[in-house]
Amino acid sequence: MSDIQRIGILTGGGDCPGLNAVIRAVAKSAMNRYSLDVIGIEDGFLGLIQNRFHRLSNDSVSNILTLGGTILGTNNKVTPLRHPVEENGKVEMRDVTDRCLEHIAANRLDALIVIGGDGTMSVASHFVRLGINCIGVPKTIDNDLHGTDITFGFLTAVSIATDALDRVHTTAASHHRVMIVEVMGRNAGWIALHAGVASGSDVILLPEIPYDLKRVCDFVRHRSRRGKRFSIVCVSEGARPKDGQQVISHYDPTSPEPIRLGGIGQKIAGEIEALTGIETRSIVLGHVQRGGSPIPADRVLATEFGATAIDLLMGGCNGRLVVMRRGTITHIPLTEAEGKQRLVPLSHSLISAARDIGTCFGDDVDG
Ligand code: F6P
Repeated sequence: MSDIQRIGILTGGGDCPGLNAVIRAVAKSAMNRYSLDVIGIEDGFLGLIQNRFHRLSNDSVSNILTLGGTILGTNNKVTPLRHPVEENGKVEMRDVTDRCLEHIAANRLDALIVIGGDGTMSVASHFVRLGINCIGVPKTIDNDLHGTDITFGFLTAVSIATDALDRVHTTAASHHRVMIVEVMGRNAGWIALHAGVASGSDVILLPEIPYDLKRVCDFVRHRSRRGKRFSIVCVSEGARPKDGQQVISHYDPTSPEPIRLGGIGQKIAGEIEALTGIETRSIVLGHVQRGGSPIPADRVLATEFGATAIDLLMGGCNGRLVVMRRGTITHIPLTEAEGKQRLVPLSHSLISAARDIGTCFGDDVDG
């Protein structure tokens, strides 16, 4: 018999399709299978710092499986390890872990289920070291969390990006243009690679493969000469030229990860048009990729992840992260996912398949 009777659940980092499906699975499994009390912590670690908790019921987690976002709210800027505290009219960054521990004790929480990315898992590991029982559930549309082959939300983002790429095809073909779609993913090209291949994009630019603009332009011109008077380019926000840097849209000094990428699509649009003479347009998909209802595969994954998190907790595990490896749900130490990024390996089979069918990655491996 486990001593656990009351658990807290929070969502940290950027929102992602499938968060509510995990919350639902965790809460229903905890309440119905194990008769636990489930407490929702609002706005990620901010709610833990500010003692904003509320009890979840079967009713409050009903009808949320298909809902985008998170009913608990989230925050991708707050860490208890560096939180602004005002004293004598001066704001200083302080470690407010003690405050969080007090709130966990005051609310009689025996364990936390923490849903988030690598930053969230680093904080969860910190709490585990201080004696708090935590189980992590991996989340990110970027699919770049170390230790798991897939995170929920990724396939929904790929599906949205693919739909956008499919739709710009008609304008590209009718106007004989180059159409560029910039997708999210930070430093990992998973979304661009999958959406690029799924949409049959002619050029795919990934952060992992620095591109040579001349090669991209030669490819576009060559297509034009062969009668294909348009090209579709799927570019990851983290892509960069082989002799240059990533394009930063802005710095957010209040965030633990202050760099926000964005703008590479617009940059290469101008360059491609100038070098090829072919009219070029670019669009940035942005947060559309994180919005709306999760696709069925993500609802399924989120439900399995959530129910497994509760089984692990009640089976006596602590400090573990639920993951998917080779098609099987399993678990690894939380510390394994801390502060690491899972990038697309250059030897990935999808890159070679795409090269085989003539996709240009802008490098000198292209034929
Ligand atoms: O990590 C998810 C993600 O959507 C990235 O793909 C993107 O670079 C970043 O978050 C955007 O962050 P924000 O919502 O703070 O602009």
